[in-house]
Amino acid sequence: MSWNISIASDKSQPNELLMLLLANKGTYLSGEEIAKKFCITRSAIWKQINALRDNGYIINSFPRQGYCLAESPDLLLPEEIWSMCDLTVLGGKIQYCSVTGSTNGDAKKLAQEGAPDGTLVIAEKQQKARGRMGRAWNSPDGGLWLSLILRPHLAPMDAPKLTIMTAVAVAEAIIDTIGIDAKIKWPNDILIEGKKVCGILTEMSAEMDAINHVIIGVGINVNNDDFPDELKDKGTSLKQIKGEEVSRIKVLSTLLERFEHYYVKAGTEGFHEIFESWRSLCVNLGQKVKITGKNESIEGTALDIDESGALLVKTVSGEVVRVLSGDVSLR
Ligand code: BTN
Repeated sequence: MSWNISIASDKSQPNELLMLLLANKGTYLSGEEIAKKFCITRSAIWKQINALRDNGYIINSFPRQGYCLAESPDLLLPEEIWSMCDLTVLGGKIQYCSVTGSTNGDAKKLAQEGAPDGTLVIAEKQQKARGRMGRAWNSPDGGLWLSLILRPHLAPMDAPKLTIMTAVAVAEAIIDTIGIDAKIKWPNDILIEGKKVCGILTEMSAEMDAINHVIIGVGINVNNDDFPDELKDKGTSLKQIKGEEVSRIKVLSTLLERFEHYYVKAGTEGFHEIFESWRSLCVNLGQKVKITGKNESIEGTALDIDESGALLVKTVSGEVVRVLSGDVSLR
């Protein structure tokens, strides 16, 4: 990408021309009718069309026929997301960047400035992305790197349930979009054929008894397939699995719709159904595992998750231990 843009957009004030072109992709729209609809001159339309062309949109134009959007660039611009997704809670505000440090970092700033529930921060590429347990996260062009700001009515100790919910939404979005079996490795890695395709990083700001905000960061390897040496054996991408490029906007829109469905459900009916889906997607349950935390490790059999999302592990001594975080390896 030769240019660097950062746009903060509100769904109530989209780029109307782009929304219209996206809704009528492949169809000619007369310049005169567009000008009338938006109460602007035909030369103002021409200018806007050229600005879109500069951003990689292929828009054909013919005298007397008007303008026709032939192809969108592979960019996750707010209007592309709004025109693909049927959302009411998520994505009312979208901050889009071609390049940033960390979308979780940007989301944290926006949350502190009062950004509403469901705000989405998305970037084409991150230069200082954060992973779990203080690690870095490889985020070149071609992947999906996003963070959601949530303001749920939950007790702080229940925040891990949102990570469980996100893992279910991501796994189901991958299964729906590319028809390939995705699994969850506790607490929040998504695996395909045993290799990691997505990581989730949940960060929270809370008082003793109330959450201020939760940032859910999701990184999915979609069309990025050039992994650094240390990740080559452990990581994969949807493109590698499928053997061809995968539409990022399709994966993203399915993910956002699944996420919103579960988020609304959790608020009204609780997390029961989400936990059931999680159990059916998880690779660890019933398996012998070793969980390595920052300072200690524990070995045993993974039995289940409890109602707050902690993993219940039965050790050789028969004791059942609740584990809240760590890296799991199968024994
Ligand atoms: C993990 O270590 O498995 C979690 C990785 C989470 C990466 C995502 S990419 C989007 C968001 N922004 C970040 O800085 N991290 C998360």
